[in-house]
Amino acid sequence: MKVFKEINVPLEHREITLANKAKWFTWSDEMLALSEKIETEAKRHGPPDAISFKTIDKGKTYSVNLKRLDTSFCKTILQISDCIGKIKMRDELHFYNDMIGDNLSSEAFQFLIACIRADLSTRKGDEMGALYPPLSTASTNNTFPIHCDFYFPVHLWNIFDEVPEGNQGMSLLLPVDVLLNKIIKQIPNFPRDKETHIRNLFKGKVVNNDHAYYDLFSMLHGRENWWAEDIETAIEKHVLSIKLNRGQGYMVNDRKWLHGRGFTADAVTIKRLHRLLF
Ligand SMILES: [Fe+2]
Repeated sequence: MKVFKEINVPLEHREITLANKAKWFTWSDEMLALSEKIETEAKRHGPPDAISFKTIDKGKTYSVNLKRLDTSFCKTILQISDCIGKIKMRDELHFYNDMIGDNLSSEAFQFLIACIRADLSTRKGDEMGALYPPLSTASTNNTFPIHCDFYFPVHLWNIFDEVPEGNQGMSLLLPVDVLLNKIIKQIPNFPRDKETHIRNLFKGKVVNNDHAYYDLFSMLHGRENWWAEDIETAIEKHVLSIKLNRGQGYMVNDRKWLHGRGFTADAVTIKRLHRLLF
């Protein structure tokens, strides 16, 4: 089974992705042949369940009870999730196109991702081993500076759905390597202990994702730090900005890439994007 196939860079993104040697993918022909079946099963099932974790307060993930699925469809889901579970990303940046839209409705995409999440977490024997967390919404005129999510699983697959028109709400991406070895190094007198602390966040296994997330976020963007402006200027110089539209998205290793959202005048709705962590 092949879930994705490589495609040419969409015209509107040619300039930016050539420079970064990123690959673009879309659904494979096998997946496209299954789309009608996925739509039917999604309609039959209804929206995925939003389940809470026992281990983390306020943590939620969308999921599907696979036992409720038709046996042959369930087998197909297991094949798809087996393929996705085998993906190993290190420094690569993968973009996606046409994942939602004419090929697959938002509802069917959500249902599919929730099914994949259910199977991958079962395979890992860990309810946090694969996640499809609901997005945090935001009111008008906001940005979300670059950060790492630091969820337990390292692969982050974001596919956009309800995005504002025009060049607002750009996706921001920055290699961790650039942050550690260029940006921080460029700031004269950046405190050595803070640098070590940031480096250590990327080493070893995350034991408390919330803690690591806030730790990095406050060190990079906390206005109380004297280096906040310097770091902001340096980030602007190195960050890759790309406007991803409905059905487009990216997959990265969350410990190798920081991500964020550029300014958007429109509110961020819960359907802005769907994300799978595995
Ligand atoms: Fe994030």
